[in-house]
Amino acid sequence: MAQTYTIAILGGTGQEGGGLALRWAKAGHRVILGSRDGAKAAAAAMEMKATLGAGDVSGTSNKDAATAADIVVLTVPFAAQRSTVEEVRDALNGKILIDATVPLVPPKVARVQLPSDGSAVAAIQKTLGESVRVVSAFQNVSAHHLKDLSHEVDCDVLVCGDDPAARETVVGLAADIGLRGVHAGPIVNSAAAEALTSILIAMNMRYKVPGTGIRITGLPAEQPR
Ligand SMILES: NC(=O)c1ccc[n+]([C@@H]2O[C@H](COP(=O)([O-])OP(=O)(O)OC[C@H]3O[C@@H](n4cnc5c(N)ncnc54)[C@H](OP(=O)(O)O)[C@@H]3O)[C@@H](O)[C@H]2O)c1
Repeated sequence: MAQTYTIAILGGTGQEGGGLALRWAKAGHRVILGSRDGAKAAAAAMEMKATLGAGDVSGTSNKDAATAADIVVLTVPFAAQRSTVEEVRDALNGKILIDATVPLVPPKVARVQLPSDGSAVAAIQKTLGESVRVVSAFQNVSAHHLKDLSHEVDCDVLVCGDDPAARETVVGLAADIGLRGVHAGPIVNSAAAEALTSILIAMNMRYKVPGTGIRITGLPAEQPR
């Protein structure tokens, strides 16, 4: 691992955030689970530590988690994406915000339904402005697989963002948990990763599997870092 970070995961009590938290804590990062309810996050952190047998995991409110972190990760349902960001906005200045949001519109989650202005994550970059480097990643990685520490996750991570250095940090964070992150261009390209998730969900349903993933072919074996 190149560098150890304090990573806040807003919505870290949930499926995707919990899976990423587990793996980053196992890799040696300091992880803070964020929640609307600090006590719920603290309990989830205790449970995670028990699962891992070690690891620096704690839990608190979304706002306090974001304030204490070097890097903030957003893993809440699309309907809560904007309100959660607004709540912690003051704590994000100068930081990288990794947003894994997929704009699913239940109940038709196997159907691509992007917001009218395109990408849900690009919209957040627009709202926050240049003082926050928003990076879109992990939309296509199944929580089911992240949570099962007994196997490696068979999925590449499309990493989109306007700041190449911030993207590179996220490529490194993916590598820390055994995933290959791939530079996938500017933040507007997040629309493709977001849309792809509904296609994966449709395939999960059709083939009765818990988590299809993606692989990008044609890349050099060793990615230049
Ligand atoms: N599940 C997957 O396999 C997967 C894969 C890739 C991407 N994603 C994306 O990751 C995000 C989270 O998905 P998930 O499956 O982890 O969701 P989830 O488990 O249903 O929710 C995650 C957390 O978000 C918080 N939350 C729920 N409703 C909220 C609301 N109305 N307002 C504020 N916070 C709320 C909850 O935390 P507290 O109650 O503790 O506040 C919850 O534990 C979504 O955007 C999803 O599309 C999911």
